[in-house]
Amino acid sequence: MTTRRNFLGTAVAVAAATADATLFAQDAINEKPMRPLVLSTWRHGVPANKAAWQVLSTGGTALDAVEAAARDSESDPDNMSVGLGGRPDRDGNVTLDACIMGPDGNCGAVACLTEIENPASVARLVMERTPHVMLVGEGAQEFALANGFTRTNLLTPKARNEWEKWKADHPDAVRERQVNVENHDTIGIVAVDSAGDLAGACTTSGMAWKMHGRVGDSPIIGAGLYVDNEVGAATATGVGEAVIRAVGSFLVVELMRQGRSPAEACREAVERVVAKNPDWKELQVGFIALDKAGRIGGYAIQPGFEYAVHDATGGRLETSASRVSQ
Ligand code: GLY
Repeated sequence: MTTRRNFLGTAVAVAAATADATLFAQDAINEKPMRPLVLSTWRHGVPANKAAWQVLSTGGTALDAVEAAARDSESDPDNMSVGLGGRPDRDGNVTLDACIMGPDGNCGAVACLTEIENPASVARLVMERTPHVMLVGEGAQEFALANGFTRTNLLTPKARNEWEKWKADHPDAVRERQVNVENHDTIGIVAVDSAGDLAGACTTSGMAWKMHGRVGDSPIIGAGLYVDNEVGAATATGVGEAVIRAVGSFLVVELMRQGRSPAEACREAVERVVAKNPDWKELQVGFIALDKAGRIGGYAIQPGFEYAVHDATGGRLETSASRVSQ
């Protein structure tokens, strides 16, 4: 007789087997690992990867490639979760978060940066020209202006219209947590160059309609991005608070260090996020990862997460496996 317990046990086993098969398929994507290679979150990763590929295919470094990819998304006004055209906070300010990390373990970040279109490039200069890792707010903007960046009004008419509509619909929004209404956000990029060196960048305008001053995971080294040139690189997308609680990208890289494939490491990190966030059913969090051998993987809580890959065979978009099935 099939008891409820038996049935659930079987259902769980089938779900696990399906997930394993999907992960196995993902691991097999790069059975013959490719170098160079670049991997980016979401559909907007496709054009971003093209910009990175121009660098990688001509012998450039992974660090230059991930910066080029980040700049491509940041400067696209139609991408409403990054840089120019990003959705503002609940007070109408577009505030940007970004970080970058190179193969030598050095890293830089900016948070709550306003009026500067390319925060990942500012983060790179924080890494290269200061003794610090992160600059925030006014200080980050002053640093950017002192280093040749110019002020830009990042609030496009389209983003302003959306914000004004949201404000009209949410008069009591101060106490609400606003999860991104669209199922995509941050662009995270990880790359390996032809010399085998790894780098990553992560850039975002953050959660739409966030509280002023809110900073998510994207500029936090270890949360939104982590690179260890001996092991691999990982980056995160989704609700930043949930990623920070699990120190997600660092966890993915540490799991790869312990022998997990990129896909397995991403899945285990998603399980950790789920364990640490009781409201996980309402959240989207996704990870992508690349190991030193050039194998790739991704995993998310909710379905619908896509990531873009570009290597010598060309560019493509992959659908990530997820904890919740379609
Ligand atoms: N992952 C982007 C953010 O939460 O700000």
